[in-house]
Amino acid sequence: MKKNNYLNLLMTLTSLIENETNELSLLANVTALIKTALPQVSWVGFYLLKDGNLLLGPFQGKVACTVIPLNKGVCGQSARTEQTVLVKNVHLFPGHIACDSAANSEIVIPMIVSKKLYGVLDLDSTSFSRFTKTDKFYLEEIVAIIARELEKITK
Ligand code: SME
Repeated sequence: MKKNNYLNLLMTLTSLIENETNELSLLANVTALIKTALPQVSWVGFYLLKDGNLLLGPFQGKVACTVIPLNKGVCGQSARTEQTVLVKNVHLFPGHIACDSAANSEIVIPMIVSKKLYGVLDLDSTSFSRFTKTDKFYLEEIVAIIARELEKITK
């Protein structure tokens, strides 16, 4: 079931973004697509790297923190290490930034565009252990597809 959600999402994603020429429109629509396609996701959005900080980009969900330094939070760790960070219980993660006190689990995927850190994709859930290795696998694939499109746009 979960895998099918992602296979449908991947097909829609490709057709949604392949002719998009504006960076912000592309990112905004991707957040809407993910939020609609995946169950039990309370927040999904991009934080984009600017002048050494992660700044809030397009998102779906409640209002969120606008600036995340690279040495803070799950997002900062993902950006710093350029690795996906999967957190089953955010209350046990040292330095977790609670934008929404109802969030209990989280996954953050780094976005590398033209070999440089561009930002991160962040998903929150009010359920504990909402995100699994399957989510990690497909969300990394989604981010890789977006990164390739952004490379074309920003060239
Ligand atoms: N929890 C994140 C902050 C961003 S919000 O979840 C939208 C973190 O610890 O980096």
